[in-house]
Amino acid sequence: MRPDERLYTIFESIKEKIPFKPQVALILGSGLGHLADKLEISAVISYNDIKGFPVSTVAGHKGRFVFAQIGGVKVVIMQGRVHFYEGYNINDVVLPVRLMKLMGAKVLFVTNAAGGVNENFRPGDLMLITDHIAKFVPSCLVGENIDSLGERFPDMSTVYNEKLCNIIRLNAQKAGIELKEGVYLQFTGPEYETPAEVKMSRILGADAVGMSTACEAVAANHMKMMVCGISCVTNMAAGIMDKPLNHKEVQETADMISEKFEKLVITSISDMREILD
Ligand code: HPA
Repeated sequence: MRPDERLYTIFESIKEKIPFKPQVALILGSGLGHLADKLEISAVISYNDIKGFPVSTVAGHKGRFVFAQIGGVKVVIMQGRVHFYEGYNINDVVLPVRLMKLMGAKVLFVTNAAGGVNENFRPGDLMLITDHIAKFVPSCLVGENIDSLGERFPDMSTVYNEKLCNIIRLNAQKAGIELKEGVYLQFTGPEYETPAEVKMSRILGADAVGMSTACEAVAANHMKMMVCGISCVTNMAAGIMDKPLNHKEVQETADMISEKFEKLVITSISDMREILD
Protein backbone atom coordinates (compact mmCIF):
# COMPACT_ATOMS: atom_id res chain seq x y z
CA MET A 1 0.00 0.00 0.00
CA ARG A 2 1.28 3.51 -0.82
CA PRO A 3 2.27 5.52 2.27
CA ASP A 4 -0.51 8.06 1.75
CA GLU A 5 -3.15 5.32 1.28
CA ARG A 6 -1.94 3.63 4.43
CA LEU A 7 -2.10 6.88 6.41
CA TYR A 8 -5.64 7.69 5.28
CA THR A 9 -6.79 4.09 5.81
CA ILE A 10 -5.50 4.13 9.38
CA PHE A 11 -7.12 7.52 9.95
CA GLU A 12 -10.49 6.26 8.68
CA SER A 13 -10.22 3.20 10.95
CA ILE A 14 -9.91 5.28 14.14
CA LYS A 15 -11.97 8.33 13.20
CA GLU A 16 -14.99 7.28 15.24
CA LYS A 17 -12.95 6.83 18.39
CA ILE A 18 -11.64 10.41 18.31
CA PRO A 19 -13.74 12.40 20.82
CA PHE A 20 -12.89 15.90 19.56
CA LYS A 21 -10.76 17.80 17.07
CA PRO A 22 -7.50 18.31 18.95
CA GLN A 23 -5.73 21.67 18.72
CA VAL A 24 -2.39 20.55 20.09
CA ALA A 25 -0.52 17.25 19.59
CA LEU A 26 1.85 16.43 22.43
CA ILE A 27 4.49 13.69 22.28
CA LEU A 28 5.75 12.48 25.64
CA GLY A 29 9.28 11.11 25.62
CA SER A 30 11.06 8.47 27.71
CA GLY A 31 10.11 8.63 31.35
CA LEU A 32 7.81 11.61 30.75
CA GLY A 33 4.64 9.69 30.05
CA HIS A 34 3.12 10.12 33.51
CA LEU A 35 1.81 13.55 32.61
CA ALA A 36 -1.07 11.95 30.71
CA ASP A 37 -2.15 9.96 33.79
CA LYS A 38 -2.77 13.16 35.72
CA LEU A 39 -5.29 14.67 33.31
CA GLU A 40 -9.00 14.24 32.99
CA ILE A 41 -9.03 11.89 30.04
CA SER A 42 -11.79 12.05 27.40
CA ALA A 43 -10.72 8.98 25.43
CA VAL A 44 -7.84 6.61 24.85
CA ILE A 45 -6.80 4.71 21.74
CA SER A 46 -4.13 2.04 22.27
CA TYR A 47 -1.65 1.71 19.44
CA ASN A 48 -2.24 -2.06 19.69
CA ASP A 49 -5.83 -1.52 18.64
CA ILE A 50 -4.89 0.37 15.47
CA LYS A 51 -4.39 -2.02 12.58
CA GLY A 52 -1.13 -1.28 10.77
CA PHE A 53 0.16 1.13 13.42
CA PRO A 54 3.82 0.93 14.51
CA VAL A 55 3.94 -0.16 18.16
CA SER A 56 6.77 0.85 20.47
CA THR A 57 8.86 -1.87 22.05
CA VAL A 58 10.84 0.26 24.53
CA ALA A 59 10.40 -0.31 28.26
CA GLY A 60 8.88 2.81 29.83
CA HIS A 61 6.86 3.68 26.72
CA LYS A 62 3.17 2.98 27.08
CA GLY A 63 1.85 3.18 23.57
CA ARG A 64 -1.46 4.99 23.32
CA PHE A 65 -3.13 8.19 22.20
CA VAL A 66 -4.75 10.04 25.09
CA PHE A 67 -7.32 12.75 24.47
CA ALA A 68 -7.69 15.35 27.20
CA GLN A 69 -8.22 19.06 27.73
CA ILE A 70 -5.45 21.14 29.25
CA GLY A 71 -6.62 24.55 30.43
CA GLY A 72 -9.41 24.53 27.87
CA VAL A 73 -7.11 23.46 25.03
CA LYS A 74 -8.02 20.20 23.34
CA VAL A 75 -4.97 17.95 23.22
CA VAL A 76 -4.07 14.59 21.73
CA ILE A 77 -1.13 13.08 23.60
CA MET A 78 1.17 10.33 22.43
CA GLN A 79 2.03 8.42 25.56
CA GLY A 80 5.00 6.64 24.02
CA ARG A 81 6.40 7.07 20.54
CA VAL A 82 8.13 4.79 18.07
CA HIS A 83 11.81 5.16 17.31
CA PHE A 84 13.85 4.53 14.20
CA TYR A 85 16.16 2.20 16.16
CA GLU A 86 13.27 -0.18 16.77
CA GLY A 87 13.56 -1.16 13.13
CA TYR A 88 10.68 0.80 11.62
CA ASN A 89 11.35 2.79 8.53
CA ILE A 90 11.36 6.52 9.03
CA ASN A 91 7.96 6.92 7.36
CA ASP A 92 6.45 4.70 10.02
CA VAL A 93 8.18 6.65 12.76
CA VAL A 94 6.42 9.86 11.69
CA LEU A 95 3.09 8.24 10.80
CA PRO A 96 1.58 9.07 14.22
CA VAL A 97 2.47 12.76 13.77
CA ARG A 98 0.77 12.77 10.38
CA LEU A 99 -2.24 11.08 11.92
CA MET A 100 -2.50 13.76 14.61
CA LYS A 101 -2.40 16.42 11.90
CA LEU A 102 -5.27 14.66 10.13
CA MET A 103 -7.15 14.67 13.45
CA GLY A 104 -6.91 18.46 13.30
CA ALA A 105 -3.89 19.39 15.45
CA LYS A 106 -2.26 22.68 14.48
CA VAL A 107 0.56 22.55 17.02
CA LEU A 108 3.09 19.77 17.62
CA PHE A 109 4.73 19.87 21.06
CA VAL A 110 7.64 17.41 21.19
CA THR A 111 9.47 16.25 24.30
CA ASN A 112 12.33 13.86 24.85
CA ALA A 113 15.09 12.73 27.13
CA ALA A 114 18.46 13.85 25.83
CA GLY A 115 22.14 13.78 26.60
CA GLY A 116 23.69 17.16 27.36
CA VAL A 117 26.47 18.12 24.94
CA ASN A 118 26.76 21.75 25.99
CA GLU A 119 29.10 21.74 28.96
CA ASN A 120 27.11 24.46 30.68
CA PHE A 121 24.22 22.00 31.05
CA ARG A 122 23.64 19.72 34.02
CA PRO A 123 21.59 16.52 34.36
CA GLY A 124 18.08 17.62 35.29
CA ASP A 125 18.11 20.73 33.10
CA LEU A 126 15.27 21.47 30.71
CA MET A 127 16.23 22.73 27.25
CA LEU A 128 13.93 24.62 24.93
CA ILE A 129 14.65 23.27 21.45
CA THR A 130 15.38 26.23 19.19
CA ASP A 131 16.60 24.25 16.17
CA HIS A 132 17.72 20.77 15.24
CA ILE A 133 20.17 18.73 13.19
CA ALA A 134 18.36 15.86 11.48
CA LYS A 135 20.92 14.87 8.87
CA PHE A 136 22.16 11.78 10.74
CA VAL A 137 18.81 10.03 10.23
CA PRO A 138 17.02 9.39 6.93
CA SER A 139 14.55 12.08 5.91
CA CYS A 140 10.91 11.08 6.29
CA LEU A 141 10.20 13.11 3.16
CA VAL A 142 12.22 10.89 0.83
CA GLY A 143 10.03 9.05 -1.67
CA GLU A 144 7.03 10.25 -3.57
CA ASN A 145 5.80 13.46 -1.95
CA ILE A 146 2.40 13.27 -0.30
CA ASP A 147 1.06 16.45 -1.89
CA SER A 148 -2.04 16.46 0.32
CA LEU A 149 0.25 16.91 3.34
CA GLY A 150 2.80 19.40 2.08
CA GLU A 151 5.15 20.51 -0.65
CA ARG A 152 8.11 18.65 -2.17
CA PHE A 153 10.83 21.01 -0.93
CA PRO A 154 9.63 22.47 2.36
CA ASP A 155 11.47 25.38 3.93
CA MET A 156 13.07 24.51 7.29
CA SER A 157 14.35 27.97 8.31
CA THR A 158 12.08 28.19 11.33
CA VAL A 159 10.92 24.75 12.39
CA TYR A 160 10.45 25.78 16.03
CA ASN A 161 7.80 28.48 16.18
CA GLU A 162 8.94 31.66 17.90
CA LYS A 163 5.52 32.46 19.39
CA LEU A 164 5.32 29.01 20.97
CA CYS A 165 8.93 29.30 22.21
CA ASN A 166 8.06 32.61 23.85
CA ILE A 167 5.05 31.07 25.60
CA ILE A 168 7.32 28.35 27.01
CA ARG A 169 10.00 30.89 28.02
CA LEU A 170 7.42 33.01 29.82
CA ASN A 171 5.95 30.06 31.69
CA ALA A 172 9.39 28.87 32.75
CA GLN A 173 10.13 32.33 34.06
CA LYS A 174 6.82 32.51 35.95
CA ALA A 175 7.48 29.14 37.58
CA GLY A 176 11.06 29.99 38.47
CA ILE A 177 12.36 27.23 36.20
CA GLU A 178 15.74 27.88 34.68
CA LEU A 179 15.24 27.01 31.03
CA LYS A 180 18.25 26.30 28.88
CA GLU A 181 18.00 26.67 25.11
CA GLY A 182 19.73 24.96 22.26
CA VAL A 183 20.04 22.77 19.22
CA TYR A 184 18.96 19.13 19.39
CA LEU A 185 20.77 16.57 17.25
CA GLN A 186 19.10 13.29 16.40
CA PHE A 187 21.17 10.14 15.96
CA THR A 188 19.63 6.79 15.11
CA GLY A 189 20.72 5.06 18.34
CA PRO A 190 20.11 2.64 19.96
CA GLU A 191 23.69 2.74 21.17
CA TYR A 192 24.69 5.86 23.06
CA GLU A 193 27.40 8.00 21.49
CA THR A 194 31.13 7.65 21.82
CA PRO A 195 33.04 10.59 23.32
CA ALA A 196 34.33 11.39 19.80
CA GLU A 197 30.77 11.50 18.46
CA VAL A 198 29.75 13.81 21.27
CA LYS A 199 32.70 16.07 20.49
CA MET A 200 31.68 16.05 16.82
CA SER A 201 28.12 17.00 17.81
CA ARG A 202 29.42 19.96 19.79
CA ILE A 203 31.59 21.12 16.89
CA LEU A 204 28.55 20.88 14.62
CA GLY A 205 26.61 23.16 16.96
CA ALA A 206 24.51 20.71 18.96
CA ASP A 207 23.66 21.33 22.62
CA ALA A 208 21.89 18.02 23.23
CA VAL A 209 21.70 14.63 21.51
CA GLY A 210 19.01 12.00 21.38
CA MET A 211 17.29 9.33 19.32
CA SER A 212 13.98 10.91 18.36
CA THR A 213 12.13 14.16 17.74
CA ALA A 214 13.88 15.87 14.82
CA CYS A 215 12.26 13.56 12.24
CA GLU A 216 8.85 14.21 13.80
CA ALA A 217 9.49 17.96 13.70
CA VAL A 218 10.43 17.67 10.01
CA ALA A 219 7.18 15.81 9.24
CA ALA A 220 5.19 18.41 11.18
CA ASN A 221 6.91 21.34 9.49
CA HIS A 222 6.23 19.73 6.11
CA MET A 223 2.53 19.82 7.04
CA LYS A 224 2.86 23.44 8.22
CA MET A 225 2.16 22.61 11.84
CA MET A 226 3.56 25.00 14.43
CA VAL A 227 6.25 23.12 16.35
CA CYS A 228 7.85 23.55 19.76
CA GLY A 229 9.81 21.22 21.98
CA ILE A 230 11.58 20.63 25.25
CA SER A 231 14.42 18.23 26.00
CA CYS A 232 14.97 16.88 29.49
CA VAL A 233 18.71 16.62 29.90
CA THR A 234 18.81 13.32 31.76
CA ASN A 235 22.57 12.90 31.63
CA MET A 236 25.64 14.52 30.24
CA ALA A 237 26.54 12.84 26.94
CA ALA A 238 29.39 10.34 26.79
CA GLY A 239 32.88 11.48 27.63
CA ILE A 240 31.84 14.52 29.65
CA MET A 241 31.43 12.63 32.89
CA ASP A 242 33.70 9.85 33.87
CA LYS A 243 31.13 7.05 33.93
CA PRO A 244 29.18 4.85 31.52
CA LEU A 245 25.60 5.68 30.53
CA ASN A 246 22.61 3.46 31.02
CA HIS A 247 18.91 3.62 30.19
CA LYS A 248 17.88 3.14 33.82
CA GLU A 249 19.73 6.28 34.85
CA VAL A 250 18.11 8.19 32.00
CA GLN A 251 14.68 7.12 33.26
CA GLU A 252 15.49 7.89 36.88
CA THR A 253 16.58 11.43 36.06
CA ALA A 254 13.52 11.92 33.85
CA ASP A 255 11.36 10.83 36.82
CA MET A 256 13.20 13.24 39.08
CA ILE A 257 12.49 16.25 36.88
CA SER A 258 9.05 15.16 35.78
CA GLU A 259 7.28 17.53 38.17
CA LYS A 260 8.86 20.71 36.85
CA PHE A 261 8.66 19.41 33.31
CA GLU A 262 4.95 18.62 33.63
CA LYS A 263 4.22 22.01 35.12
CA LEU A 264 5.99 23.77 32.27
CA VAL A 265 4.20 21.72 29.61
CA ILE A 266 0.76 22.10 31.17
CA THR A 267 0.97 25.85 31.77
CA SER A 268 2.47 26.45 28.32
CA ILE A 269 -0.26 24.48 26.55
CA SER A 270 -2.93 26.35 28.53
CA ASP A 271 -1.42 29.62 27.27
CA MET A 272 -1.45 28.44 23.66
CA ARG A 273 -5.21 29.04 23.74
CA GLU A 274 -4.52 32.66 22.83
CA ILE A 275 -2.85 31.86 19.53
CA LEU A 276 -5.04 28.93 18.57
CA ASP A 277 -8.42 30.66 18.31
N1 HPA B 1 22.41 10.09 24.04
C1 HPA B 1 21.39 9.81 23.22
N2 HPA B 1 20.14 9.74 23.63
C2 HPA B 1 19.88 9.98 24.91
C3 HPA B 1 20.90 10.29 25.82
C4 HPA B 1 22.23 10.35 25.36
O1 HPA B 1 23.19 10.63 26.10
N3 HPA B 1 20.29 10.48 27.03
C5 HPA B 1 18.97 10.29 26.84
N4 HPA B 1 18.70 9.99 25.57
